[in-house]
Amino acid sequence: MDLIIRRATLAPGAAPQHKHTVDIGIEAGRIVAVEPNLAASAAEEIDAAGSLVTPPFVDPHFHMDATLSYGLPRVNASGTLLEGIALWGELKPDLTQEALIERALQYCDWAVARGLLAIRSHVDVCDPRLLAVEALVEVKRRVAPYLDLQLVAFPQDGVLRSAGAFENLKRAIAMGVDVVGGIPHFERTMADGAQSVRLLCEFAAEQGLRVDMHCDESDDPMSRHIETLAAETHRLGMQGRVTGSHLTSMHSMDNYYVSKLLPLMREAGVAAIANPLINITLQGRSDSYPKRRGMTRVPEMMTAGITVAFGHDCVMDPWYSLGSGDMLEVAHMGLHVAQMTGVDGMRKCFDAVTVNAARILGLEGYGIAPGCAANLVLLDARDPVEAIRLRAARLAVVSRGKVVSRAPAARAALSLEGRPSQVDFKLHRD
Ligand code: FE2
Repeated sequence: MDLIIRRATLAPGAAPQHKHTVDIGIEAGRIVAVEPNLAASAAEEIDAAGSLVTPPFVDPHFHMDATLSYGLPRVNASGTLLEGIALWGELKPDLTQEALIERALQYCDWAVARGLLAIRSHVDVCDPRLLAVEALVEVKRRVAPYLDLQLVAFPQDGVLRSAGAFENLKRAIAMGVDVVGGIPHFERTMADGAQSVRLLCEFAAEQGLRVDMHCDESDDPMSRHIETLAAETHRLGMQGRVTGSHLTSMHSMDNYYVSKLLPLMREAGVAAIANPLINITLQGRSDSYPKRRGMTRVPEMMTAGITVAFGHDCVMDPWYSLGSGDMLEVAHMGLHVAQMTGVDGMRKCFDAVTVNAARILGLEGYGIAPGCAANLVLLDARDPVEAIRLRAARLAVVSRGKVVSRAPAARAALSLEGRPSQVDFKLHRD
């Protein structure tokens, strides 16, 4: 074999048949064996020593055309969504393809080091030059040997509101963009918003493409485009291929209305993506106290049987000055904002940045089982909850069967009389 990871702990639920640690054998970019005491040898062996091995993190919602542009041409002084959009408008004319590619590649380096090996990125198609589209199609090609980059044609200024946007979107799809995006709540009227959803879903159905719209990213409880998105998905037979991103208006909606909406989404097989870091910072901005959190109804949707994932959305761009590609930080924030502090809830937050996100992207061969792609992460944690709590170090990241990143464990050396010489921030009760 090419690589064996020995004494790995798998996440509960991921492999219930394995009560103890297992060895993972990898050959020609595939997992070929998952069993205790694997009787084989390999060119390279890694001893996990009981630590958690998980399939890679997946970010289902990102903006790679804007990432790492923090401070260009100035910083977002108010930190609001509207100043962010204005700032992006100021930056767009100055974008060059080389700089865009360079920033995106740098972000992908960070992602790999964080064990984040699949990203769905929206790309703005409202600039008729389609410069960002060209750049990200090139980035997708360059990172393909180690990272799955899926692109969404995103009409940031509204597919109906912005002249020529639908034609640009079609051109972007022809250039290799994978998914149809939209932004119904940004169209001029509610009616235009609903019309944009119909137009884009029909186009996607015709082309056999997936759909992922920025949908109802607002505090307005009457912003109900998700209803139209679910109805269109049902009408066009696109179950399992359509996603509503953000859905923040649902936070403020009437409970009775939501009790009808959730089964509608479930019936249509529409998935949901919350972006906890961004929702908590951008929503509720016009509130006095109490201030709404703005994140969509994550645990309620999960209970209703809807696939829910968490996205990073932004890292060091006009909307958000923080972040480093760490999906455990995203899960950590989501867990807090949604008050998912029960054991089951915490585990589901881990699923929201791994298996649920992978399902939304439609990734094939995702998982730790024979036959799966050999993409995995060795974390300095014993289980998913500890991984979230510590934002655990990625001791080793394996992509396509090769170790592509290594990092040291987080340890501190102490110099205290009568106390241990080192701490690792884990509970030791033996
Ligand atoms: Fe977004």
